[in-house]
Amino acid sequence: MNILEIESLTKTFGELKALDDLKLSIHAGVIFGLIGPNGAGKSTTINCIADLLDNDSGVIKVFGKELKEAEIEIKKRMGILFENTDDLFIYLKGEEHLRFVGEVYGLDKNTIEKRIDDLFDYFEIESHRQMLIESYSKGMKKKIALASILLHDPEFIILDEPFDGLDVFTIIKVKKILQQLKAKGKTILITSHILSYIEDLTDEVGIIDKGKIVFQSPTKDIRSKIKNEITQETYQSLEEIFLNVVKDSKEGEEKKLSWL
Ligand SMILES: Nc1ncnc2c1ncn2[C@@H]1O[C@H](COP(=O)(O)OP(=O)(O)OP(=O)(O)O)[C@@H](O)[C@H]1O
Ligand SMILES: [Mg+2]
Repeated sequence: MNILEIESLTKTFGELKALDDLKLSIHAGVIFGLIGPNGAGKSTTINCIADLLDNDSGVIKVFGKELKEAEIEIKKRMGILFENTDDLFIYLKGEEHLRFVGEVYGLDKNTIEKRIDDLFDYFEIESHRQMLIESYSKGMKKKIALASILLHDPEFIILDEPFDGLDVFTIIKVKKILQQLKAKGKTILITSHILSYIEDLTDEVGIIDKGKIVFQSPTKDIRSKIKNEITQETYQSLEEIFLNVVKDSKEGEEKKLSWL
């Protein structure tokens, strides 16, 4: 069964086509890595799945249901970590924020308090529990954002650059959480520019470029030598695939800043 199915998704911002007839499906129980250069359309895709953006055309189905028709039910079963932490209520204290999120998801009081204790302890931000999020460092804000999307134990987790701003200890913890969630049968969509993490963590990888999926493969096939069915070229690493598949202005003469 597919947890996510996207058909012909197009999103324009004025003249710019951010998503161009994008097609993507993700099987239940896998960790799927979506990679691509800056501006390729990763966050736009995620914002469309979150229904924060209205797509021009196309269909998004989550848990087999059309997003537009079952939005509330879908959102209850999903957790989305956005690329930046702007969606945090910065004038709440850390624990107030998590309590509010728990109540929105309809969790009972005891469950909320137990999970808040666990999350502050796990992410080692206990000392900032009673402080306004406004005063948190970048990484601490990311930790609260992560805690907020894990609190209701979602079935489908979307993480847009989750490692950005986190220290090494926390990166290791987040990787462990992802593996734990997968072992429990949950489905994860993750974006990152750190290809080694994507190679280690994921079951499947998709490359997006200029709003289209231009490559998709099980990750294990990347570790062995694989052949791109379309171009018949063979590759040995995700980086090599990325550089070959995403062909753009980077081709040709190496650019230089002559004044430096
Ligand atoms: N709100 C917006 N208004 C106008 N253009 C936008 C908006 N959001 C995204 N875009 C444009 O859409 C394109 C895709 O952006 P998007 O943020 O999805 O890229 P991305 O793959 O997430 O990149 P990055 O790796 O830098 O996070 C870019 O050209 C971007 O400038
Ligand atoms: Mg992005």
